Amino acid sequence: MAVLCRGTVKRSEYQPPHFTIDDVHLTIALFDDRAVVTSVMTISRLEPFNNQPIPLYGGTEITLDTVLIDGVDQGLSNYNPSSGVINIDITAGAVVTTVATINPNTNTSLEGLYRSGDMYCTQCEPEGFRHITWYPDRPDVMSIFTTRIEAPITMPILLSNGNLIKQGMLELEEARHFAEWHDPFKKPCYLFAMVAGDLDHVADHYITKDGRKIDLRIYIEHGNPHAVTTHAMESLKRAMKWDEDTYGFSYDLDIFMIVAVSHFNMGAMENKGLNIFNSKFILADLETASDIDLERVEGIVAHEYFHNWTGNRITCRDWFQLTLKEGLTVFRDQEFTADTHSRGVKRTDDVALLRAVQFPEDRGPTAHPIRPEEYLEVNNFYTPTVYEKGAEVIRMIETVLGHDGFMKGMRLYVERHDGTAATCDDFIAAMADANGVDLSQFARWYAQAGTPILTISRHYSSDNKTLTLNFKQKLEGLAAEPLVIPVRLGLVASNGDTVNETTVIITDAEQSLTLIDVPLGAVPSYLRGFSAPVILETDLTSQEKLHLLGADSDPFGRWDAAQSLMIAAITADKNANLIKELAAGLTKTLNDTRLDNAEKAQILRLPSQSILEAGAILEASMKFPDPNLLWQRRRDVMAALGRAMASTINDMLGRFDQTSNSLDAADRALYSRLIGLAVIAELEGAEAHALTLSRHQNMTLSEAGISALNQLDGALRAEALQEFAQRWEKNPLVMEKWFMVEASAPMIATPAYCDALMQHPAFDANNPNKLRSVLSAFASLNTPNFHADDGSGYMYIAEHIVKIDGRNPQVAARIVLPLTRFGHYADNRRGMMKAALNHINAKDNLSADLREIIGKALR
Ligand code: TRP
Ligand code: ZN
Repeated sequence: MAVLCRGTVKRSEYQPPHFTIDDVHLTIALFDDRAVVTSVMTISRLEPFNNQPIPLYGGTEITLDTVLIDGVDQGLSNYNPSSGVINIDITAGAVVTTVATINPNTNTSLEGLYRSGDMYCTQCEPEGFRHITWYPDRPDVMSIFTTRIEAPITMPILLSNGNLIKQGMLELEEARHFAEWHDPFKKPCYLFAMVAGDLDHVADHYITKDGRKIDLRIYIEHGNPHAVTTHAMESLKRAMKWDEDTYGFSYDLDIFMIVAVSHFNMGAMENKGLNIFNSKFILADLETASDIDLERVEGIVAHEYFHNWTGNRITCRDWFQLTLKEGLTVFRDQEFTADTHSRGVKRTDDVALLRAVQFPEDRGPTAHPIRPEEYLEVNNFYTPTVYEKGAEVIRMIETVLGHDGFMKGMRLYVERHDGTAATCDDFIAAMADANGVDLSQFARWYAQAGTPILTISRHYSSDNKTLTLNFKQKLEGLAAEPLVIPVRLGLVASNGDTVNETTVIITDAEQSLTLIDVPLGAVPSYLRGFSAPVILETDLTSQEKLHLLGADSDPFGRWDAAQSLMIAAITADKNANLIKELAAGLTKTLNDTRLDNAEKAQILRLPSQSILEAGAILEASMKFPDPNLLWQRRRDVMAALGRAMASTINDMLGRFDQTSNSLDAADRALYSRLIGLAVIAELEGAEAHALTLSRHQNMTLSEAGISALNQLDGALRAEALQEFAQRWEKNPLVMEKWFMVEASAPMIATPAYCDALMQHPAFDANNPNKLRSVLSAFASLNTPNFHADDGSGYMYIAEHIVKIDGRNPQVAARIVLPLTRFGHYADNRRGMMKAALNHINAKDNLSADLREIIGKALR
């Protein structure tokens, strides 16, 4: 499926539309071998652009059958559909009808209308609607949609946005029926959706604050027990209530539907009233999903639901504004999870994610500001930067304005822009105006790429008990201007009390602050709650970090102290002492009665390989750290810590083992962490314990056992993995876990091994989840094989990308990303990674998705 190459799209070249589509009536008639799409648009012109034609976009693979203007057949000779656009010449308003034929059965790109198993479904964001019919496929054209679906009665469920207004049998066609849906809210076409198939569903309802009853439905494939939707449904109801309580946002239609689909490019999609989900983010219970999976399901259900206000009612003017809805909605779902579970643990989870995926993006060839300036393929900009860093920027606004000020800004934003397509500047203006402040310097966060480095040095005067802090910010890039960086800080006194708590707003390249009445020995806890997305360089000593680890009242501060000590231990040449002290500190953490087990598990988590590779540059000034060396050292440190903490670990493991059926999620998180340490450290009985655990009926514990064993090449590993596959062979979602564990096995999963995995009957090369569970797991979790010294791991990924690109460019363009990070490694690796990229680049008909990413990398 292709759109004609249109070259680079630039933010600076935005032109408002010179027309409106007042309403659109779609009829989608599904047949075995095709779909016929009739679109009737009422178009009005906006002054003063009277002579310009109306451009309607359409994929080059769709067939244009008919064009009518005010009912008059125009013939086809005036149109050139193979250019990706047809221009409709009308001088005034008109009713324009097009008929298009498409083939959802052969659509492997999973955008537009496609088939997943026995159902038909759509994915239109960002530019998928043009693969369904000819339309001004841009988010600032908002319209009222009425959708009629016609299909064989073998597909009893016919869904679209809004409310069902009519359904029945087709009179002239045998064994076919129809349903008509009307969505009273104006929306851009990227929020259009339809689903058809023989689906099962679970129904529930929600009563809004003002007493309206909303029907809730989750549609799933037949054969799934209804109980696997319970968690998602309860999550939805919690999200609906939270949005009413927190923002005053109530749901606005009579029905809210979710459809779980097996073949899906991303997590989920917020189509108005008809969210479509990757089934792995709906179908989840304690036996088939881990606690982490369950929390993610809840977060994504909430995220898509929250888009109804931040995304749908107020949408984006153009795709450069994507973070307007995504950064804000991620921030909202983060806060929901923080309020629903543990705020401290959620924050450290999010910081770990940001550091693991967004920081590397920001120092690689695909770095971009949260509001990009140009693109070839907008699908490439659904990134950790736009989403996660975008959410950090919203969080900083909240920190700078205070919670109440932020909420005032949100109210003004909605008051001004509800029902329209807005920009990031509109959002900032609403925040500024509602609070009477100037946010123009703050707005640089939207324009500048890269992670700022904030250096803090200090001078303590014991005579007058003052502490002077010097802040220096640095951002790579020629024209980089100082950013607004809110730094929440406190001092942790020797007795553990927090004193001198304050928030300092850094606005200059260099700035200082003097704190008074500072007790001797108080240790600064900087950037509490991770108050800004920066890399922090401090002059804190290991002893001071150990103090923070034990005593900081800020959960982020405790966790970050542990992270930084671990990175130091992993990268230092002589680390025996540090490991000893760290083990003592972590043992204290394990025995600290003020912390719950979720917090303890969090602190015990070693920095991921990706965090380590960046951290090594700072900690040990390793300019180009060798990934394999770091991987080995991480393992060694983990084993050393495990041995040094053996008696505490064994005690706790024994207790967890005795009570494994009555543990809660926090206990299970710690149990998982400890079994991982014990197995790596080869503590006595640990492997056998992990094998027992791998058979547990609770998925979190089962996964903990499997993952622990997976780090070794032992007989018990093979046994556990084999049993797991047998037990779950009929459950495609759990098999994705199995593929992921197999493909990331460091001692085992070579390219040949992964190719064999892809021959497994549960594998499906057209299913993005399955592709990612082998290839992305290999590239990001299997360091020794991906970074094999002969370059075979790089070429392996490249070869698969070539194959995938022809079928699904979006997925290919994501799996390729680890190869583009060659600049982080030394010369020999760099050459081999570039060779792999060149191998892809040599392919004919490379998608725009891959061309853009590889082009940037090889530039
Ligand atoms: N808007 C969706 C979200 O963040 C994500 C999304 C964008 C998407 N493009 C997609 C999902 C393509 C699936 C396929 O919630
Ligand atoms: Zn989103």
